[in-house]
Amino acid sequence: MSRHDTRKPMSVLLAEADDQGQGTLVRRLGAISLIALGIGAIIGAGLFSLTGVVAGQHAGPAVVLSFVISAVGCAFAGLCYAEFASIIPIAGSAYTYSFATMGRIWAWVIGWDLVLEYAVGAAMVSISWSQYLNKLLAMHGMHIPGYLMAGPFEGGWFNLPAVIIVALMSLLLARGTRESAGVNSIIVVLKVAVVIVFIVLGWSYINPANLVPFIPDNTGVFGEFGWSGVLRGAGIIFFAYIGFDAVSTAAQETKNPKRNMPIGILGSLAICAVLYVLFGHVMTGLANYTEFGKGNDSLAPVATAIAHTPFVWLQQAVIIAILAGYSSVILVMLMGQSRVFYSMSHDGLLPKVFSDVHPKYRTPFKSNMFFMLFVGAFAAFVPGRVVGEMTSIGTLLAFILVSIGVLIIRKRMPDAPRGFRTPLVPLIPILGIIVCGAMMLALPWDTWLRLVVWLGIGVVVYFRYSVKHSKF
Ligand code: ALA
Repeated sequence: MSRHDTRKPMSVLLAEADDQGQGTLVRRLGAISLIALGIGAIIGAGLFSLTGVVAGQHAGPAVVLSFVISAVGCAFAGLCYAEFASIIPIAGSAYTYSFATMGRIWAWVIGWDLVLEYAVGAAMVSISWSQYLNKLLAMHGMHIPGYLMAGPFEGGWFNLPAVIIVALMSLLLARGTRESAGVNSIIVVLKVAVVIVFIVLGWSYINPANLVPFIPDNTGVFGEFGWSGVLRGAGIIFFAYIGFDAVSTAAQETKNPKRNMPIGILGSLAICAVLYVLFGHVMTGLANYTEFGKGNDSLAPVATAIAHTPFVWLQQAVIIAILAGYSSVILVMLMGQSRVFYSMSHDGLLPKVFSDVHPKYRTPFKSNMFFMLFVGAFAAFVPGRVVGEMTSIGTLLAFILVSIGVLIIRKRMPDAPRGFRTPLVPLIPILGIIVCGAMMLALPWDTWLRLVVWLGIGVVVYFRYSVKHSKF
C-alpha cells in the first residue's frame, strides 16, 4: 500500500471475518431463510404508515407509481450490493465495503451517513408504532393523552410510547437476546399474512371512483401531486424498502454466499415490491386519498382504509401484527447501527467505547445505551415525517456511494473472485446513481439541509478525531 492509500487491506478484512466468527457463526442460512430475513427487516412503517402520507399529500392513487420508481432504484443498488456481498462475504455493510475499495474518508462518510438509515430509521418506526398502539388502546376505551403522543413541534410534550419501545428494544439488544430464527420466521409470516389478507379482502371493496384522478393535478407547488409529487413520493416511500441491504450482514452465516446472497437480497426486494404495489392500490381504492396522511393518526392509515370494509373486526388483528412486526424492524435497525459503529470503533475511527463488549452478555452494551438515548430523543421530539425523510435521504446517499463503489472495484480489483457480478456495468450502477439521485433531489430542501448539517458534523469529527486515531 502506498502512503496515501487509505484502503483497508482485503487480507485484514478476511482475517477479521474469521475473528468475528469466534467459531460460533455457522453457515446454515439458505436462500429461503435469507429472503425471510430480508422481508422481516423490510416490511414495516414504510408500508403501514408512509403509504398514507404519500397518497394523501404527494401522489394520490399514483402512490403505486412511487412504489415502482422506488423499487427500480433499489433494484439497481441491490445489484451493486450483491456484488460486494459476494466478494466480501463477511458480516459487514456499506461501510466495510467502501473501506476496502474507496478508502478511509469515503468509508467514514458512509458509516456516518448510515446513522441516518439505522438510528434515525429506528426512531421513525417507533413513532409510527406509538400511533398504532394508540389506535389499539382506543378500541378498548383507553387513550394516551395527546401531549404524550407528540413532540413540541406538533403541539405536544414528547412521544412517550415511542421512547418506551426504543428503550425496550435497546435493553433487549444489550442483554444479547438474539432473535432466534424461529421468532423471526413467525413475525415474517404474520406480517406477510396481514398484507395478503388486506389485499385479498379489500380488493372487492375497491371503489373505482377513489382511483380517479389517478395522478391528481399538481397544486402549483413542486412535490404536491402531479408528476413531481409522484417523484417526491418515491423518495419518501423509499423508506419502505430499506432493510434489504440488511441481508448482506448475514453473509458470514450463509451457505454458499456467492449464490445465495444475491438471491436473498434481490428476492426479498422483488417480493416486497409486488406486495407493496398491490397494497397501495387496495388502500387508495378503499378510502379516498384525501382521507390519508392528516391529523393525529396520519401514520396509521391502514385503520382508515379498513373502516371502509365490513371487516372492522380485522382491525385489531392487523394492528397487533403491525405492532409485533415493527418491534422486529426496530430491533434489526438498532442492531445494524451498533454493528456499524462497532466496526468503525474497531478501526479506530470512533472512540473505543463503541466497541467495548460486555464481559457477560458479549454485546456492545455501551453503544446500545448511547443509541437508546440518541434514538429515544429523536423519537420523543421530532415529527415522524421529518425523521422518515432524513432516513430516506441518508439511505439513498449510501446506495449511490455503493453504486460508485462497484465502478471503482471493477477498476481496482478486476480479478478478485466474485460469485455475483452486477450485470451491464457501468450501465446498472450509473442508472442506480441517476434514479436514487433523482429521488434525493425530489426531497424537500429542509431535508437536504439536515443531511448537509449532519455530514458537516461528521467531517469535523473525522478531522478532529478519526484521522488521528485510525488504524489504517
Ligand atoms: N423498511 C422498513 C420499514 O418500512 C425500514 O419500516
